[in-house]
Amino acid sequence: MTRTSRHAKHLGVSIAVALFATAQSPARAGPPAVPEGAAVCVACHGAQGEGSEAAAAPRLAGQNAEYLEHTLTMLKAGTRLSPVMQPIARGLSDAQIHELTSYFAGLRGVRASTAAASPADLVRAGKELAQIGAMNDPTPPCVSCHGIDGRGVGARFPSIAGQPVTFLASRLHEFQVRAKAKAPDPGTMTEVATHLNEAQIRQVAAYLSTLPPFEAQRASAPAATAFEDSAH
Ligand code: HEC
Ligand code: HEC
Repeated sequence: MTRTSRHAKHLGVSIAVALFATAQSPARAGPPAVPEGAAVCVACHGAQGEGSEAAAAPRLAGQNAEYLEHTLTMLKAGTRLSPVMQPIARGLSDAQIHELTSYFAGLRGVRASTAAASPADLVRAGKELAQIGAMNDPTPPCVSCHGIDGRGVGARFPSIAGQPVTFLASRLHEFQVRAKAKAPDPGTMTEVATHLNEAQIRQVAAYLSTLPPFEAQRASAPAATAFEDSAH
């Protein structure tokens, strides 16, 4: 199925309709206007906020808007570290942060060509860790906080589904660096990351990248079958 196909079935229909509406109907209330400054962001995050494996840039499309605003504010303040994003965030006013994050959260971007080549055994091991957790260095299942199939829960627990492998791995490494600098509080993501070894990070990143992005999961009913559909 190509993304422009007007004959797309089921799930594809909503994507095709969204693209068609964007392109064809400026008169309708439809999609929000592209805010000033968004051109800078799309260089790494993709024209539709779909993220980029090459830039290790996360998917922003469909992510919780409040989460994005909060985390970009943390990047601006330096309470979240990223050599790439911090200088960019520092150049934004609070109003711009609000406008840009609501815009990208509202996009329903196509899926980035992510992790297509992850070996099946890696993905399988990652699925077990994400869904069941690990016993050796006890790790809670990722879905216990991030929701079914990593689709996210409210503003506090971001969706981690359909993200580029490179972003997932580097973000998990950042949590680990943070934990070395200062003992993390129990029950935080920083603490969870201290239980993961390198092999587990590769596994779970491979698995999560294969899941359909959160907004696609939300659009598809019923939730109980979404997992089987997605486990390709
Ligand atoms: C040069 C590439 C680049 C550009 C340009 C860029 N970003 Fe980023 N962005 C990244 C990377 C890489 C990360 C991941 C950082 C990390 O691993 O913590 C990121 C992370 C983020 C996050 C955190 C999302 C999450 O789920 O953790 C937000 C929000 C964000 N960027 C918004 C923006 C906005 C808005 C712009 C434009 C003003 C922008 N970015 C421009 C590369 C870029
Ligand atoms: C105890 C609850 C909890 C568990 C269990 C948990 N997380 Fe998290 N996770 C969080 C919270 C809270 C955040 C937001 C932290 C922040 O923004 O600083 C987060 C953030 C993340 C992020 C960053 C997402 C982004 O867009 O920036 C990734 C990646 C992540 N978690 C992966 C995982 C993986 C993989 C597992 C399973 C091995 C896991 N999490 C288990 C609570 C949890």
